[in-house]
Amino acid sequence: MTLRLSADTTGIDRAAQLLRQGGLVAFPTETVYGLGADATDARAVAGIYAAKGRPSFNPLIAHVPSLQAAEDLVHLDDLARQLARAFWPGPMTLVLPLHDGAPIADLVTAGLPTLAVRVPDAPLALQLLERIGHPVAAPSANPSGRVSPTTANHVEAGLGDRIDAILDGGPCPVGLESTILMPVDGTVRLLRPGGLPVERIEALLGTPISLEATGDTPTAPGQLASHYAPQGRVRLNVTQPDPDETLLGFGPVKAELNLSPTGDLTEAAAQLFGHLQTLDRMGAPRIAVSPVPEQGLGRAINDRLRRAAAPR
Ligand code: TXA
Ligand code: MG
Repeated sequence: MTLRLSADTTGIDRAAQLLRQGGLVAFPTETVYGLGADATDARAVAGIYAAKGRPSFNPLIAHVPSLQAAEDLVHLDDLARQLARAFWPGPMTLVLPLHDGAPIADLVTAGLPTLAVRVPDAPLALQLLERIGHPVAAPSANPSGRVSPTTANHVEAGLGDRIDAILDGGPCPVGLESTILMPVDGTVRLLRPGGLPVERIEALLGTPISLEATGDTPTAPGQLASHYAPQGRVRLNVTQPDPDETLLGFGPVKAELNLSPTGDLTEAAAQLFGHLQTLDRMGAPRIAVSPVPEQGLGRAINDRLRRAAAPR
């Protein structure tokens, strides 16, 4: 049974406590219900993918209570700040360069150098974010491939006992996901149309903007296929590594780096991007990877490993 939390101080306190402990809590924003996890906690973020059954690691939106909190995580140039001042809190997400050393789990950005951030326009969400004091990663709180939920009952029907709690704030007024923008070199790229109409953005900027990509496909610099592929050649499903190969292990094998010596898929997901980066820093010319079971989070892990192994 998933805990149903009420939209009052008691409910917010409990939701914040669960999130700080690494739990998964669905909460209402003005757009749709988000499935939240502490964005600084890799294991908690891995749990989002497990609960949603996502077959790949799409980058997630980090939710913060204010522009100031966003500035701690990402770099806003003049254009980004203009957009933020005009439309935050609100149904707009900005994809911006992540500060070096910002405390964001690699799994949130899917290893990209950019982070999607937004300040939701929902009092309950803002109070929750203030209370936690950490950015909260949250995709829409639906199983992968199903429609985004706009009520607590929707969330419960889809994710049921796969999450710790649902903060019930009634129906979401906008009902459509946020508009995603990437300001780059003085121009704005529209990555996903959503709850903030394009006309309002164009009216602010005085210039037309066009759609770069639709749906759940991140674009540049999210050329996800080979991004974060290590420089070395990657061979998958290896039980007997060659002598000149560096083994990225999974399970009880002798390996230079191990995603999870105990074979825990949540731990492996949490370690994945960090280990790929480490292999790159080591300059390993040939990398072998242990077999990872194609089930649960293993599907998303294998998807990413296949991209890392793809010829480029
Ligand atoms: O309204 C919303 O945006 C809701 C509520 C909960 O805030 N959230 C939401 O999240 O729709 P999600 O995960 O369903 O969609 C996030 C989108 C994905 O299409 C993802 O590819 C894109 O944001 N995205 C996230 N980080 C990105 C990045 N660094 N570069 C490009 N696209 C990114
Ligand atoms: Mg979604």
